[in-house]
Amino acid sequence: MGFLSRRAALKASALFGMGALANRSLVPKATAADPGGGGASPATPATRYGPQSATGDVAAVYQRAREVLYPVCRVCPECDGVACAGEFPGIGGLGSGMAFQNNFTGLQRVRLKTRPLSGNRQPDCSTTILGQKLSFPAMAAPIGGLAVNFPTLTRMSEDQYFEAIIGGCVDAGTLGSIGDIQSNPLSVTRSHYDVAGRFPGKVIAGIKPRPNENFISIVRLAEAARAFMITIDIDSAGRGWLDASKSTAVEPKTVAQLRELVRSTRIPIIVKGIMTPDDALLVGETGAAGICVSNHGGRVLDNASSTAEVLPAIADRVKGKMVILVDGCVHYGTDVLRYVALGADAVLVGRHIWRAAHGGGRPGVALFMKTMRDELTAAMVLTAVPNVAAISRNILDLDSRA
Ligand SMILES: Cc1cc2nc3c(=O)[nH]c(=O)nc-3n(C[C@H](O)[C@H](O)[C@H](O)COP(=O)(O)O)c2cc1C
Repeated sequence: MGFLSRRAALKASALFGMGALANRSLVPKATAADPGGGGASPATPATRYGPQSATGDVAAVYQRAREVLYPVCRVCPECDGVACAGEFPGIGGLGSGMAFQNNFTGLQRVRLKTRPLSGNRQPDCSTTILGQKLSFPAMAAPIGGLAVNFPTLTRMSEDQYFEAIIGGCVDAGTLGSIGDIQSNPLSVTRSHYDVAGRFPGKVIAGIKPRPNENFISIVRLAEAARAFMITIDIDSAGRGWLDASKSTAVEPKTVAQLRELVRSTRIPIIVKGIMTPDDALLVGETGAAGICVSNHGGRVLDNASSTAEVLPAIADRVKGKMVILVDGCVHYGTDVLRYVALGADAVLVGRHIWRAAHGGGRPGVALFMKTMRDELTAAMVLTAVPNVAAISRNILDLDSRA
């Protein structure tokens, strides 16, 4: 790469991409027959690359996202946390950015065994989480605080963003989400839940680890909006706790405090930010419905392990006793497959779905999710798994992990 650092080269290539003529007609359009804009029947699978007659392709959505998001996000060909390292607030990882990069490299070390002779013709990639059937085991990760993270991105309001994410996920047969930031005035939070209320039973409500009384007041909004699930990202209480003098603070939680939150509502609560088997077991003591194995996309603790590294040991202790979600650099159907093989029940998708929303709105989100779903189905054919329950570590080539 000569005198150019990898980061400089990525910036340059992203700029070049911006200058290229984008074929906007490829960006998917919603139709009455397919409100998600991106048909994905077995006969016409949603594809990632190449024009797809009436519906467009993910590459076109990403090209548009690159135009809209640069320089906040370069929409790199692979989202590995290198070009945006340290861009926090922003889209990057905290500090050196290594925790974000670890997520990428940790997952890439997990390799799939190809088993083409199984005669496996029509794998079923649907799954059921807490009684809710999903077209495949992937949902939107909560992403919030857009005005704080991206003050220059004003093209889409936060409410419009949530509408695109939730609507697109619902069109793809799965769940959307809303995020949170403790500095939001109550009127802003209410308005987010107004959006959620338009999709009853289909929303994951992300709530920050606010002091319990404050948290429970937001739980009431989630109940009124008929949210399906609540996540509490307890790992947000690192930097946020340093602001403890402010009324907007978040706080590290004890088991007893979490138990109080779980008892405050009938909506299942998922504790997000669990990275060790011991903490997963502690969550079991709170009565929470499950955990999300997450390092918050490398945004809370620099140099944290990758989620792919820690997931198997956690699953060995709590699989089947609680729901296990995971996030970290989910981009392709094979990422969903590998995380499920490592022990997750389903994955959450963060930055990639945020890009799809900016590049194609609700239809772009739907197309992105349907494309991942179709990639997962194809990968299940070649790894010889007939359904999601049959996905196990047997399909992984663990000996080849570096
Ligand atoms: C800009 C931004 C805002 C986020 N806001 C939230 C949030 O409000 N609540 C939350 O639980 N996680 C939040 N996250 C973390 C994501 O839910 C997710 O854990 C993380 O991005 C890892 O997934 P990814 O690698 O697919 O991006 C945020 C992440 C980003 C990049």
